[in-house]
Formats: sequence, structure tokens, C-alpha cells
Amino acid sequence: PARPVNPLVKIQEAAAEFYHQVLLTTKAGQRGLEYAKSRSLSPEIIKHFLIGYAPDNDSVLLTYLKGQGFKQEELVQSGLFVQSQDGRLFDRFRDRLMFPLQDENGHTIGFSGRRLSNDKTIAKYVNSPETKLFTKSKVLFHFKEAKQAARSEGHLVLYEGYMDVIAAYKAGIHAGIASMGTSLTDEQVYLLKRVSRNIIINYDGDDAGQHASERAIRLFKQAGGFNLGVVSLPEKLDPDEYVKKYGIEKYQAQIRGAQTTTDFFLKQLEKKYNLTNDREKLAFVDEAVNQLAQLTNPVEQDMYVERVAKLAGVTPQSIKANLSRKRRQQR
Ligand code: CTP
Ligand code: MN
Ligand code: MN
Ligand code: MN
Ligand code: MN
Repeated sequence: PARPVNPLVKIQEAAAEFYHQVLLTTKAGQRGLEYAKSRSLSPEIIKHFLIGYAPDNDSVLLTYLKGQGFKQEELVQSGLFVQSQDGRLFDRFRDRLMFPLQDENGHTIGFSGRRLSNDKTIAKYVNSPETKLFTKSKVLFHFKEAKQAARSEGHLVLYEGYMDVIAAYKAGIHAGIASMGTSLTDEQVYLLKRVSRNIIINYDGDDAGQHASERAIRLFKQAGGFNLGVVSLPEKLDPDEYVKKYGIEKYQAQIRGAQTTTDFFLKQLEKKYNLTNDREKLAFVDEAVNQLAQLTNPVEQDMYVERVAKLAGVTPQSIKANLSRKRRQQR
């Protein structure tokens, strides 16, 4: 027999179904549907991800859930409402495209709502507050399905956002999950480790995303035991924008062509330093050798020694000498 669903989940699932129906079947939902269309979200995708719309109204969800028999205490605890000084409740999510967030068993535990407008004065995404069910640092968007897909796809692909996971899904990559921003946590790394040791990091191509990739690599390396790949998309695009611009075949090729972490770091260093300046060149070599010193596979190390030497315009022997000295210092 199936285990009984946590009673706190019931209200989340009722809200998810409500927002979904509002999007698909109501007049108010047309605004949301138009936005969804502008983001190339097909009816199948909307259904699959149970995407919804929270109308621009402060009590529709409240009225609906009360009508479904949920008690005041349950409403308060759900995080779906904001409470005024005098204790009255108001719908938290208004005029937003709603993404239900699920735990690893597929139970809805909270929401993230995207603003429809370009108005930068309001938050692009509003999330459920921390509740008994929802701890943002322990959630990975699309984790339940990705766990299953990882078995056949052979790896998990880590994204920043919901729209990226969805874009990947359209490209046949069902093992995508999102850390929901650039602050990957140790808890999320731990969740991933139980599912697959093979992780491809595909954060946004902008500076924030590339720095977050460096940080994510460090977290995965600290945890140990992972085989990492990194995709750096061009033109500061995020995966959703890339798929829109270049199509799914090109995107699949990006995933197949994921770089090693050493490759990724060397590319970052190339961008950081002006290699026509001797002082910067020395700093480049120093940082690059620090990277190479971490490699345990001698063949791999040799490969990259050659590359660094070429980039710096010096002999591989001098890089090797530098590397041996670093290693001695490390011991
Ligand atoms: N995020 C968030 N709150 C914000 C901004 C971002 O929780 N105010 C999270 C969301 O999970 C978002 C992810 O960080 O999906 C990545 O942020 P960003 O790249 O700015 O957004 P996109 O995912 O690209 O969203 P969109 O394509 O809708 O602009
Ligand atoms: Mn499914
Ligand atoms: Mn981003
Ligand atoms: Mn993005
Ligand atoms: Mn995006």
C-alpha cells in the first residue's frame, strides 16, 4: 500500500491543481496563457510540469481552499498566503506564472511564481517561504523525474532555472534538475550524489552563471567521487535562450561536448588574463599550474601541461618544473 500523503502536502497539491486550471480554463488565465505562449511553453509542457497561473487578485486562492474545507491553521502554515497585522490572509502569489516545486517523491511542497511583465522593480521570481515542508536549500526542481531519467541518460544535468530544465526536456534531456539559482548547496550536492556520480553543470553563460559553475565544481570536488562535465554557452545565453536561438540539435551537441573541469578553468583563466602582457602571463601560469596540480591522472596532467605551455608561449618543461615545485609545496 502507498504511504499516506503528508497532510501538509494536500493543500499544496490542491493549490497546484487550482492554479493549473485557472491557467487553462479561465478568462483570467488568458493573460498567463499568452505569456506561456511567448515563452514557447506548449500545452504538453504546461501539463507535464503542472504549470499554472495565479491571477492578479488577493483572495481567489483563499476562497477556493476555504471552500475545499482547509482550516485556518492549515492555510497559515502553507506559506501560500501573507498575513496582515490583524491576522487576515491574502494570496501571496499574484499575476504570476506558477511552477509547483516537488520533493524527490513527486509531492508538491511549494511554488515559485514568475512575474509576467518586464517590470524590473518587482522580483522576477517569488518563492514559497520556508515552511515545515519547504526548505529551499534542500530542493531540486524536477528531481523525481530526473532520478529515473538519469539511469538511461547516464548523467544528471544541473541548471539554474525552471525554464532551462524545460528547454532541456524539450531537447529530450529528461535528467535535468535546477538548483533554483546560482547558490548550489551542500544538501543539494548530497541529494545528487545518491542518484548519479556523473554530473554535467550547465549554468547560464553570463558572468554570474560562470562564476557559479566554478563554485559548484568546488562543492562537488569537496564532496568527492563525482565525474564532472561543464558546458559554457556562448553569448551569455542561458540554456533556454540557447535552445530558442540555435535549436535542440545544437543544444544536444553542447551537452555531448561538455568540457572537463580543467578545460573549463583554463578557458576561464584565458579570459581573465591578457597573455600578451608578461606580468599577467606569469599570473596565468601560476593559477593554471595550481589547477593542474590537483589532477591525479598523469596522462591528463600531461595533456594540459602541453596546453598551458602553448597558451603561455613557453616550453612544457618549464611548466612541468613549476608543477613539481607546487606539488612539493603542497605535501
Ligand atoms: N531565482 C529566484 N528568484 C529570483 C531570481 C531567480 O529564485 N528573484 C531563481 C529561479 O529559480 C530562476 C533561477 O534562479 O529560475 C535562475 O535565475 P535567472 O537566470 O535570473 O532566471 P531564468 O531562470 O533565466 O528565468 P527566465 O528565463 O524566466 O528569465
Ligand atoms: Mn512525467
Ligand atoms: Mn541566471
Ligand atoms: Mn537564466
Ligand atoms: Mn532564462
